[in-house]
This record gives sequence, structure tokens and C-alpha cells, in this order.
Amino acid sequence: MSERTTALVTGANKGIGYEIAAGLGALGWQVGVGARDEQRREAAVAKLRADGVDAFGVPLDVTDDASVTAAARLLQERAGGLDVLVNNAGITGGMPQQPGDADVATVRAAVEVNVVGVVRVTDAMLPLLRRSASPRIVNMSSGVGSLARQSASAGEHQTGPLSVAYAPSKSMLNAVTIQYARALGDTNILINAACPGFTATDLNGFRGVRTPQQGAAIAIRLATLPDDGPSGGFFDDAGVVPW
Ligand SMILES: NC(=O)c1ccc[n+]([C@@H]2O[C@H](COP(=O)([O-])OP(=O)(O)OC[C@H]3O[C@@H](n4cnc5c(N)ncnc54)[C@H](OP(=O)(O)O)[C@@H]3O)[C@@H](O)[C@H]2O)c1
Repeated sequence: MSERTTALVTGANKGIGYEIAAGLGALGWQVGVGARDEQRREAAVAKLRADGVDAFGVPLDVTDDASVTAAARLLQERAGGLDVLVNNAGITGGMPQQPGDADVATVRAAVEVNVVGVVRVTDAMLPLLRRSASPRIVNMSSGVGSLARQSASAGEHQTGPLSVAYAPSKSMLNAVTIQYARALGDTNILINAACPGFTATDLNGFRGVRTPQQGAAIAIRLATLPDDGPSGGFFDDAGVVPW
């Protein structure tokens, strides 16, 4: 592997993912901009490069086996490996998604991107990550995936709108994160889930109250954990998020 740290950020063409790529690039890292649409990907790469980031495009649809396999190959060829994977790509599946009145296709789509996509990308990248000196995986979850918060009484710490697809998909992503942390417990790979807070992006029609840069901060912190940092945890800017 090269001396330089290489990161891959999925869904990095806009929103929080773009700012994660910018933040990691500002550290002098080489950043793969994972994005499924060629035009949006190349526009993001050009913008990052104009800001001095050593960015390169990685064609990547997290729902597509062939695309993910090709992305792993590209990272090996272009960068000689991978040190940090940020599984940021995500969708709500479309709102509203009221329990009792939702299209099952919405549930399936949210799980396919937010959960299966993360498993698919992580498994494809693990052989590369295992060769890194300080590998890190960050799964972009959400506080709405917290079972503690979903079951809190209104007004307490309850969070997010009723959703039978999005919030449960993030709960499953949290469980997936714990399962990987257990499986990787005897390796140097640290894997954690992050909540960016309610951030103004396309995902919520820009109703969020935080900037994408603020939303990116926790992922950047978890991507740069020291070797004795935590694994199998769930964090936001304020600290530990309850499961
Ligand atoms: N915004 C918030 O308040 C908030 C709160 C908690 C958690 N999050 C999480 O933060 C992450 C980033 O969200 P965001 O707010 O930045 O949303 P966003 O602006 O909508 O960005 C989502 C990104 O995911 C990409 N994506 C979607 N499906 C994909 C697929 N099949 N393959 C590859 N990329 C795909 C999108 O690409 P296209 O441009 O091609 O669609 C886009 O780059 C998500 O996981 C989200 O659940 C956000």
C-alpha cells in the first residue's frame, strides 16, 4: 500500500457525503468519491479538486453487485488499496411512510440501500481494508434508528416522524455495525455508527437545521480514530447515542 491514507465515501456527490469527502481531503488524504451518476460524480470531483482535494471518481451504485466489485478493483488499481470506508449513501425511500399505510416497495428500497448496500460494499472492501495499518469503517446511521429514542415518550427524546421504512432500516444498520465489530474484534479494523444530526440536505427537502459540514463532522472524527479508539459504538457530536 502507498504511504498516503485513502478513503472511499459512498454517496459523496452531494450533501453530507460531499462534506465528508472534503473534510478527509483537507487532511491530505486521497479520497474516492463514490457516486452512481457519472455527471454528478464528475462535478463533485471537479469541485473538490478545485479546492485542493486529491479526489477521484469511483462509479458506485451500492445496490449493484457488479458496480461494487468494480469499485473495489478500481481502488486497488488507482490507490493500491483502502484505509477508510465511509458508508454514507442512504435514502428515506420517500415520505410519508406511516405504519399501516405504506408501500412495501418503500420498505424494501430503504433496506436495500441503507442496510444491504452497506453489507455489500463493506464485504467487497474488507480484503483491501485488512491490508491497511489503521483501517476504519464508518456507517452513517441516524438517531431515528435508535430504539431507545423510537420508544421514548413524546417530547422526551423521541425523534423523527413515524416511518416504517427509514427509521427501522437504520436500526438494522446499527445491529449490522455491532455484528461486524464482533466479527472484526481480533483485527485492527474499527467500525462505528454515526448520527449527523438533523441536517439540511435533499434527503429532507433541506428542512434540517445543521449544515452538511456540521453533519459531516462526526463521520470525520470516527474515520480518524486513534488505534485504541472505540469499535462497535454509535456516536454523534455530543457523544454516545443510545441504541
Ligand atoms: N440529512 C439528515 O438530516 C440526516 C440525518 C441522519 C442521517 N442521515 C444520513 O446521512 C447520509 C447522507 O444523507 P444526506 O442527508 O447527505 O442525503 P442526500 O443529500 O440525499 O445524499 C444521499 C447520497 O446517497 C446517494 N445514494 C442514494 N442511493 C444510492 C445508491 N443506490 N448507490 C450509491 N449512492 C446512493 C445519493 O446519490 P444520488 O445523488 O445519485 O441520489 C447521494 O449522494 C444518509 O445515510 C442519511 O440516511 C442524514
